[in-house]
Amino acid sequence: MLRFLTAGESHGRCMVAVLEGMPAGLKIDLKALNIELKRRQLGYGRGDRMKIEVDNAEILSGVKNGLTLGSPLGLYVKNVDFRIDDLIPLTKPRPGHADLVGCLKYGHEDIRCVLERASARETVVRVAVGAVCKQFLNEFGIVVASEVLMICGEKNKSKMIKKIEQAKKNLDTCGGLFSVTAAGVPPGLGSYVAADRRLSARLAGGLMSIPAIKAIEFGLGTGYAIEFGSSVHDAIYYSKEKGYFRKTNHAGGIEGGMSNGEPIVVRCTMKPIATLGKPLDSVDILTKKPEKAAVERYDTCAVQAAGVVAESVVSYELAAAFLEKFGGDSLNEVKRNYKGYMRTLQ
Ligand SMILES: Cc1cc2nc3c(=O)[nH]c(=O)nc-3n(C[C@H](O)[C@H](O)[C@H](O)COP(=O)(O)O)c2cc1C
Repeated sequence: MLRFLTAGESHGRCMVAVLEGMPAGLKIDLKALNIELKRRQLGYGRGDRMKIEVDNAEILSGVKNGLTLGSPLGLYVKNVDFRIDDLIPLTKPRPGHADLVGCLKYGHEDIRCVLERASARETVVRVAVGAVCKQFLNEFGIVVASEVLMICGEKNKSKMIKKIEQAKKNLDTCGGLFSVTAAGVPPGLGSYVAADRRLSARLAGGLMSIPAIKAIEFGLGTGYAIEFGSSVHDAIYYSKEKGYFRKTNHAGGIEGGMSNGEPIVVRCTMKPIATLGKPLDSVDILTKKPEKAAVERYDTCAVQAAGVVAESVVSYELAAAFLEKFGGDSLNEVKRNYKGYMRTLQ
């Protein structure tokens, strides 16, 4: 079983993750892992925090001479901007953020006690976990990538940039739409036999756990609401060379909660960033008087970065489902199981 847990506050000492269940014998490329962290920092419209942080992961445990041992991997990313105890308290919750409900739920009187953990800074170590999973999936020819499709209603790349510039000028923010594609996934990951084994449910659950992701669709997604069945289902063909194949992929690579061998295609909608330079109405949680919401350093747009986080989430969920299907404590054992199954499909 593959599992992970993260810890760390946005302006705390560091962000850490423990990833357990990776088989022994996987070569870890730390340079490639850190390229993923760098990718998460990029994208037009990122705020000043990303200019301060130099995200570089260290591997604390679970690896010897570059190979996984099968024991838990400890992943560590230092926060350069570490001043959690010196930050002044905030009492004016930002609409769209965890601030208000977090204070009510945990009994905090300083919003920072909530936002330090609710912040998407946490995703830096999720990307580190995902990068290890990506390297595992690469061993089996599975490649995961993302692409920004829309920003604030604009699909054209240069118009997307203009929207972000407009938002920045107006002290406003942008959301958008991105896709994540996983190619090379064998048929049969996940299962229809139990609700919690459906690959679509697991991927959607993982993707919805990314802060600010508000909608997920597989393949044709909301388009299914418009068309007749005869024009949307992917007809099945067979040839000796290819085996079973489809000419279309409206299903987005998943049927019956299982990968069907076609690329997995999922689209995610991200809401505009909740922190606004020109803040919305709010209420001071100590005085209960109307006030404008707090303003923290913020990204005008983080859709591209969210795509990188989503790649990591998809990689983790696919690696987990892959290990359930092909089980094994060493990479060689997983490879044997994988090859044996792939032979039965021919
Ligand atoms: C990569 C990334 C960067 C983000 N940057 C910011 C930010 O700078 N300011 C902000 O208010 N929200 C940011 N968010 C979104 C908030 O973390 C999120 O809206 C908030 O935690 C509330 O959760 P919810 O939107 O899922 O309800 C970011 C999200 C992601 C994925």
